Amino acid sequence: MSEHIRTHLEGGVLTVVFDRADKKNAITQAMYAALADATEQAKADDAVRVILFRSEGDSFSAGNDIADFIALGQTPGDLVEMGVFRFLKALADLDKPAVAAVRGRAVGIGLTLLLHCDMVVVAEDALLSVPFVNLALAPEAASSLLLPRVLGHQRAFELFALGEAIDGRTALAWGLANRAVPADQVEATAVDLAAKLAARAPNSIRKTKALMRDAEALWAVMQLEAQAFGAQMRSPEAMEAFMAFSQKRAPDFSKLG
Ligand code: COA
Repeated sequence: MSEHIRTHLEGGVLTVVFDRADKKNAITQAMYAALADATEQAKADDAVRVILFRSEGDSFSAGNDIADFIALGQTPGDLVEMGVFRFLKALADLDKPAVAAVRGRAVGIGLTLLLHCDMVVVAEDALLSVPFVNLALAPEAASSLLLPRVLGHQRAFELFALGEAIDGRTALAWGLANRAVPADQVEATAVDLAAKLAARAPNSIRKTKALMRDAEALWAVMQLEAQAFGAQMRSPEAMEAFMAFSQKRAPDFSKLG
C-alpha cells in the first residue's frame, strides 16, 4: 500500500484519491501498486459499481515520478513486470464505469489515465499534457492508439511531440471530457455523475462498456508501447531529460545522436 493513495467505498462508488499534493501528485511505484490494487478490487468486488479518481491539492497528477524514472532507468528488467503495468492491465480489464475529476495539471499518465475513464469532468482552466517526447520517452497506457482515435492524428501527434498543454475547455471541445466546469464544481459534478452511474443496472452497464472496447487489444498495445518506453527510459537522451528536470533547467539534446 501507499500512504499517497487513499480509497473509500460509499454508495457503490469506490473513490480513489491521489494524495501527494506537495509533489503535484506525481506517481511513484508504490502508488501504482496501490492504484492497481484498487482497480482490481473495483472489478472483483460486487459492492463496487463505479470507480472515481480524484486528487488532493491543485493538480490532478504530474504523471510518473521522475526520480522513479531515473532509478528505473538504471534497473535491469522487463517494464511489464513493474507496478505501473499491473495498474495499466487492471485499467484495460476494468469492465465497470470509471469517472475522473480533473483540476489543475494532468501530465503524462495523468492524461492517459483519462482515456480509460468513461466519464471525465475537467476544470475549465485545467491543463492537460502528454510531454513524452520532451522527456525523450514514448507514449504509454495505449495512448498511441486511443489519443489519435479521440483527437485525430495531427492533434494527437502535436500533443505528444511538442508536449504543450491544452486547457479544460479545449479538452471538452476535442472530445477528451464530458463536462468542463469551474474548478470549484469539478468534484461535485463528478460525484453526481458517479452516483448516477452507480444507480444504473450493473450488468447492463458492464456489458455496454465491454461492447464499446477491446480489453485484449488495449493490453496488446500497452505491451508494445512498453518495449519502446523501456528502451527510451534507459537511453542517454532520457537521462539528459530527467537530469534537466531535477536540475530545473531545459534539456540539451544537441549532442545526442
Ligand atoms: N516527478 C517528481 N517530482 C515532481 C513531478 C514529477 N513528475 N512533478 C512535480 N514534481 C515536484 C517538483 O520537483 C517540486 O518538488 P520540490 O518542491 O521538492 O522542488 C514539486 O513537485 C512542485 O512542482 P513544481 O514544478 O515546483 O510546480 P509547478 O506548479 O511550477 O509545476 C508541473 C507543476 C506539473 C507543471 C511541473 O512540476 C512539471 O512539469 N512536472 C513534471 C511533469 C512531467 O513531465 N511528468 C512526467 C510525464 S511522463
